[in-house]
Amino acid sequence: PSAQLIDRFGRHIDYVRLSITDRCDFRCVYCMAEDMTFLPRARVLTLEEMAEVGRAFVALGVRKIRLTGGEPLVRRDMLMLVEQLGALESLRELALTTNGSQLARMAPALRAAGLTRINVSLDSLQPERFRRITRTGDLATVLGGIRAAQAAGFERIKLNSVVLKHRNHDEVVDLVRFAIDEGLDISFIEEMPLGVIGDHDRAEAYYSSDEIRRDLSEHFELLPTTESSGGPSKYYRVGATACRVGFISPHSHNFCGDCNRVRVSAEGRLLLCLGQEHSVDLRHMLRAYPGDHQRLQQAIVEAMRIKPRGHDFRLDAQPVILRHMNVTGG
Ligand code: GTP
Ligand code: 5AD
Ligand code: SF4
Repeated sequence: PSAQLIDRFGRHIDYVRLSITDRCDFRCVYCMAEDMTFLPRARVLTLEEMAEVGRAFVALGVRKIRLTGGEPLVRRDMLMLVEQLGALESLRELALTTNGSQLARMAPALRAAGLTRINVSLDSLQPERFRRITRTGDLATVLGGIRAAQAAGFERIKLNSVVLKHRNHDEVVDLVRFAIDEGLDISFIEEMPLGVIGDHDRAEAYYSSDEIRRDLSEHFELLPTTESSGGPSKYYRVGATACRVGFISPHSHNFCGDCNRVRVSAEGRLLLCLGQEHSVDLRHMLRAYPGDHQRLQQAIVEAMRIKPRGHDFRLDAQPVILRHMNVTGG
């Protein structure tokens, strides 16, 4: 079965992002407030419930699932979920977005459990800065995690860098050089205004993808490609290397017209758009009607009708969306 999930705008949804925990061992300044309170466990889906949701989506034609967080690798027994989803025949890609802190320990088991791709957040190559941006993270541990993932056989690992003026905008060339040297891809991301973070002013910290591209062009030849993961990233190839550089530009280049994805929050809310509140409470359904696969699938199919056209992110106002990125998984 394919393409059973189609929204009002004719967009085919074949990609789902599952946030499997809101918890994280980092406190990145663009993602969280310093004093975050996390969800009580009873409000978070169990791993069995997450697997059930994943299976429902795959039955409806979804071909790619990405596990996100918070930090997905801090959830105990998450390998069990990877194994269950990894065993689904018609799933083409089972991916993970991680901060890398636990990869050194987990990479081989993730590979064995059926994970196919990994994205690692990396905003700076300078230990002090890395600490200031993540508040609690250790650069050397994350670099060790990336190496462990490569050693475990993961290919085309992708780095994610959220670029903030005066924090890391002057490192984009170094980050691309690092990606080239290590055989990685890299995406640069414009910060999205989700939740009150209380650290910096998001409008002042804005550094656009065009500025990054200009900075990079002084050092590298960037060749546009038509490649797309059906997602927000616009990719370039760095001339004469295997490295791809992506730009995720919610403010400067809207990408919602090609959206192919929905996400499920750690609480089991099916969110139809990262930047809007349109959602359906799958947790309620799972708990009120346990084992009713039909009903779950029906709810997912019907939810496509309320997928909005796109986000309305604005930098010049208080955030409209109050949930933080860590509940949503980006
Ligand atoms: P692919 O699966 O390769 O497309 O990965 P990705 O780059 O979309 O996923 P990743 O988890 O690495 O996220 C990178 C950035 O893209 C994060 O900042 C996400 O918040 C952002 N992102 C992913 N999907 C969407 C989306 O649908 N809308 C918006 N606004 N941002 C998104
Ligand atoms: N804006 C853009 N990207 C963000 N991420 C976390 N918070 C934000 C934000 N406010 C990124 C992380 C991670 C990915 C899942 O989302 O760096 O790489
Ligand atoms: Fe944790 Fe990722 Fe948020 Fe950083 S961006 S605090 S690593 S969930």
